[in-house]
Amino acid sequence: MRYFIAIYILLIVITVSILGFRGSTTKNTPLEVFPDMDRQAKYKAQTQNSLFSNDSADRLPVLGTASRGNAYNLEDVFSSKPTLKSLAFKTGKNKSGDWVAQTSSVIDVNLPLIRLGREKYDIHCSICHGDYGNGLGVLSKFGLAPRNLSDPSKKGTYLESSGAWTDGQIYHAISMGSASGIMLGLSDKLTPKERWAIVLYVRTLQNFVGQATTVSKKI
Ligand code: HEC
Repeated sequence: MRYFIAIYILLIVITVSILGFRGSTTKNTPLEVFPDMDRQAKYKAQTQNSLFSNDSADRLPVLGTASRGNAYNLEDVFSSKPTLKSLAFKTGKNKSGDWVAQTSSVIDVNLPLIRLGREKYDIHCSICHGDYGNGLGVLSKFGLAPRNLSDPSKKGTYLESSGAWTDGQIYHAISMGSASGIMLGLSDKLTPKERWAIVLYVRTLQNFVGQATTVSKKI
């Protein structure tokens, strides 16, 4: 029994001297029975990596990557000289709180921009609003009532003289979704430039469908 107590006390002393008291801090490397993935060979954001010619560990996403998250223009995020765009360009409202009336006041309007708008419209909007913007997309057959964006011969479009929408409001709807929340905002999938391009394309569709319906062609 005498030996047992002596050995027992010795064991406690050894255990405590190896493991230490609970909660005490040490600068020594801790004993890790299961290290999990606490330590791993990796590069942290904004550190150096001489493997790449610009010595930066940060890489641009592969070309054609579908954007997720805030959809900032990546060239701006990674550039040492970001092109700061105006508030109106980002939000659709100018400093005094008024909607931007015309897309051309926030971005240079040209054919490539309209083409970009067409491409993005076909990907992100046509399934609901239809290829021609008249609200007759595939999903309209399943109980959803997407807004008629272009056909003046039918009701529901915001082209009517009372309550005609500005470009800034359309931009806002694309970014934040519809006022009732039935249509969700697409700001995580489209950059501000792409959203303005879609606004431009919606205007193009309005012209096209407007003309087609006045000569009563069926679209
Ligand atoms: C999932 C289907 C869906 C997609 C995708 C979609 N919309 Fe809509 N959108 C709707 C519905 C439904 C409404 C009507 C919402 C309501 O009545 O509140 C609507 C309303 C709108 C409105 C009017 C907003 C308002 O507050 O009245 C605009 C403008 C619009 N959509 C543009 C677009 C554009 C441009 C795109 C593509 C970038 C797009 N939508 C993508 C379903 C969609």
